[in-house]
Amino acid sequence: MYATAHLDLPPLVHARGLVRLPGSKSISNRVLLLAGLSEGTTRVHDLLASDDTRVMLEALRTLGCQVTRHGEVLEITGLGGRLKTREAKLFLGNAGTAMRPLTAALALLAADQGGSFELSGIPRMHERPIGDLVDALRPLGCRIDCLGQEGYPPLRLDGGKLKLDAPIRVRGDVSSQFLTALLLALPLVSEGRALVIEVEGELISKPYVEITLNLLRRFGIEVQREGWLRFTIPQDSRYRTPGDVHVEGDASSASYFIAAGALAAVDAPVRIEGVGHDSIQGDIRFVEAARAMGAKVASGPNWLEISRGEWPLKAIELDANHIPDAAMTLAVMALYAQGTTRLTNIASWRVKETDRIAAMAKELRKLGATVDEQPDSIAVTPPAQWRAASIETYDDHRMAMCFALAAFNPLITQQPVPVRIEDPRCVAKTFPDFFESLFDVSRARTEDIPVLTVDGPTASGKGTLAAVLAQRLGYHLLDSGVLYRATALAAIRRQVGPDDEAGLAELAAGLNLRFNADQVQMDGEDETLALREEQVGSLASRISALPAVRRALFELQLSFRQLPGLVADGRDMGTVLFPGAQLKVFLTASVETRAERRYNQLISKGFSANLPDLCADLEARDLRDKTRAISPLKPAQDARMLDNSQMTVDESVDLVLGWWEASRPFQDGPGR
Ligand code: DC
Repeated sequence: MYATAHLDLPPLVHARGLVRLPGSKSISNRVLLLAGLSEGTTRVHDLLASDDTRVMLEALRTLGCQVTRHGEVLEITGLGGRLKTREAKLFLGNAGTAMRPLTAALALLAADQGGSFELSGIPRMHERPIGDLVDALRPLGCRIDCLGQEGYPPLRLDGGKLKLDAPIRVRGDVSSQFLTALLLALPLVSEGRALVIEVEGELISKPYVEITLNLLRRFGIEVQREGWLRFTIPQDSRYRTPGDVHVEGDASSASYFIAAGALAAVDAPVRIEGVGHDSIQGDIRFVEAARAMGAKVASGPNWLEISRGEWPLKAIELDANHIPDAAMTLAVMALYAQGTTRLTNIASWRVKETDRIAAMAKELRKLGATVDEQPDSIAVTPPAQWRAASIETYDDHRMAMCFALAAFNPLITQQPVPVRIEDPRCVAKTFPDFFESLFDVSRARTEDIPVLTVDGPTASGKGTLAAVLAQRLGYHLLDSGVLYRATALAAIRRQVGPDDEAGLAELAAGLNLRFNADQVQMDGEDETLALREEQVGSLASRISALPAVRRALFELQLSFRQLPGLVADGRDMGTVLFPGAQLKVFLTASVETRAERRYNQLISKGFSANLPDLCADLEARDLRDKTRAISPLKPAQDARMLDNSQMTVDESVDLVLGWWEASRPFQDGPGR
């Protein structure tokens, strides 16, 4: 997951390969609740691990459900319809799929069995209406107080006395989750009588209600439906765990990769595993909309293969009420269509994680699109001229994910632009590894993948600076010195002499290295410490003067330039390896400062050291690095010089990030 302040996506030109989808959010949270209310133990497979499911699980634990993990499988032993805990405060983040059904279930249980519960979330959750559900529950005898504004969370559910003889009415035209909440909760109080729910107003997002009915069936409850107006829960309904439940992949999440395939899968398809034509999720019908825009889609029961069909895409007019979430993806695909794409009947966008119509309009305009925003529809006309834009995401996972598709703009414009996604961490709500998956199936032209180089003499603090920069930008890190050190270590182990140029080059070409977090593995062994030894550094300095060794490591170093970008540190990163780097930094701390740093570093790691020797050694190494015939240590002509002798790491990082920012084309970003 990218937890950076923002993530810059270089222009993308191709998509192909395999994506495995995370579990569906809607199915995951419904299954968790049903398992939590059932008697017995449910084993949930392929559950989505995300912010929204975490808060639901936490709530179930607080309520007394037993939750244990066995590898990939989560076991939940439910309450069997009896409250174990009569008082609790539940924090539900921004998860509508937890807030609504838990409100209904706990309000009914509290009124029936006695109890007092407080349900709250993040500030945005407290702006998302729940009045229609409260209005449906109060006439049933549930005592519900809105603790902030009337009609919005936080809520207190405080006992009451059930009266269930009249039909139960709920509005269906703001969020189908209110009806879903009642359907999931009312079986709890169906003893002795069937319960009828009547929907007022046109029910929106019907497919989500179908998911609810489908899952209720799996948990033993057969709801009878008359059209979309009346739903009857049979008398004495009881939740019965089906034992094992498999959660399908998230069809809304699939939409981003279906779109990527439609835009950029030219020589081979994008294959999506986890959903297919057997899916019970309404958003699978996004496939039809994508086809209408030009996508070529093949499918199996639980897979899809997408490639580009028509190009440019065809603009469409679509009543998107049945696929409200996935339709956001269509609004971004519209950037690649000929003409104006209009999505109608999407008023529910305004009460989701953010006001999605307003947010979508504002951010699409930043890219240069013309947008017509109406209370319940949006129309998008592609940019005449694309602009590099910093996309605000409003703590809305879908904003981040669908706008990532704007990075494919080289396919439609002669002047490609990168796209900045602010707060990429918000994808954790449903798809924590979204960007990793996107980078797995996307290709950029190598020269478009940004590189920041940090060169300088030994012990100048390059490594530390580069590592922090990479982390802050969400970029890959190349510590090129490690490659020379690894060659040196291999030479010592295999007794290849320091003058055996061909032998050393062979070792360099055959290095078997793996980098995980702060660890370097060589031939499967953790060699992080061995690589730092003075003897190894010293030999590395010597053998790095050999042309054949440098040649042998050349391609390997270039291969680190991968999406979304690279920070490379070494001696010749800016001069030889990445002469086209967007920013080159050259560190120039004095020998004394560097010797002192190295001294402290060695002592802290338990090695012995002495300052004069270190000084002399650094000077010798500097001289060797600077005077060698090939790739000598010297600043690139366009390098920014940085003497960090008097600076803390944070100060150097901030300074360099400031330079980096200035080199980027995002004038409308948060740094404005
Ligand atoms: O940065 P370091 O101390 O880990 O590097 C070890 C040796 O490798 C150093 O003495 C010089 C050499 N080196 C090089 O010649 N070119 C690079 N790009 C990186 C390191």
